[in-house]
Amino acid sequence: MSGKIFIIGIGPGSKEYLTVHAMECVKNCDYTVGSIRAIELFSDVQNKIPFNVKELVDKLKEGVELAIDGNKVAILSTGDPGFSGVLNTVLRISDETNFPKENIEVIPGISSLQLAAARCHIQWDNANVMTFHGRENIDDILPVINNGKITIALPSRKVKDMAQFLLDNGVDESRKVVVCERLSYPDEKIVESTLKDIANSEFTYMCIMIIY
Ligand SMILES: C[S@@+](CC[C@H](N)C(=O)[O-])C[C@H]1O[C@@H](n2cnc3c(N)ncnc32)[C@H](O)[C@@H]1O
Repeated sequence: MSGKIFIIGIGPGSKEYLTVHAMECVKNCDYTVGSIRAIELFSDVQNKIPFNVKELVDKLKEGVELAIDGNKVAILSTGDPGFSGVLNTVLRISDETNFPKENIEVIPGISSLQLAAARCHIQWDNANVMTFHGRENIDDILPVINNGKITIALPSRKVKDMAQFLLDNGVDESRKVVVCERLSYPDEKIVESTLKDIANSEFTYMCIMIIY
C-alpha cells in the first residue's frame, strides 16, 4: 500500500520563516529527504536522507520508493516548492513510478522572491516575476525588461553576468538594480546600485536581482 509524500517549502533559510505546519509535518514523517542545510532547520526528524546537489534526483527517487513501500516521506524544498523548487521533479518521478498524485501533498513555504519583495516594499503582483535558475538561455527577460514594470529575477548564473547580459543587449546602464543576498541569514545584504556597477560586483549565488 502506498504511503504519502509531503513536499515541504522551508522558506528562505532562517528558522523564523519556517511554518509551524512544516515543522509538525516533518515531525510526523518516517523519513525526511533534503539538503543538509534544510534538514538542520528541524529539531525533530526521524530518519534523515541528506543530499548534495549532484545527488538530488537519486535521493528524490529514494524518497518516492520509500513512499511506495508505505512510508510517510517529507521532501524539503528551499523557499516554496512551486517556484524553481523540487515540485515538478518529484511529480515526474512519482508519475514514472506510478505513485498516486492524490497521495502527494504540497506544503507551501515563503519564497525568497516574496522576502525580497517585502524587503524592498514591492507589491509583487504587478512585477515581472522570472526565474532563470538552472537555465542557460535567459533571453526571455529581454521582451519584458522595458515594459515599465519592476522585474524580480532569480539569476541563472552570477548576478554580474546577468547584469552584463542586459548591458550587452542595450539595457540602460543607469537602471536601478537591487541585489538581495542571503535573505533571512545574519549576513543578509541588500545592495542598491546601477546596472553598470552591479556588472562589476561580486555576489554569492544566493541572490535575488530586482531591476527597476
Ligand atoms: C533552486 S532555487 C530555489 C528557489 C526557492 N524555491 C524559492 O522559492 O525561493 C535557488 C535560488 O533561489 C534564490 N534563493 C534561495 N534562497 C535565497 C535567499 N535566502 N536569499 C537570496 N536568494 C535566495 C537564489 O537565487 C538561489 O540560487
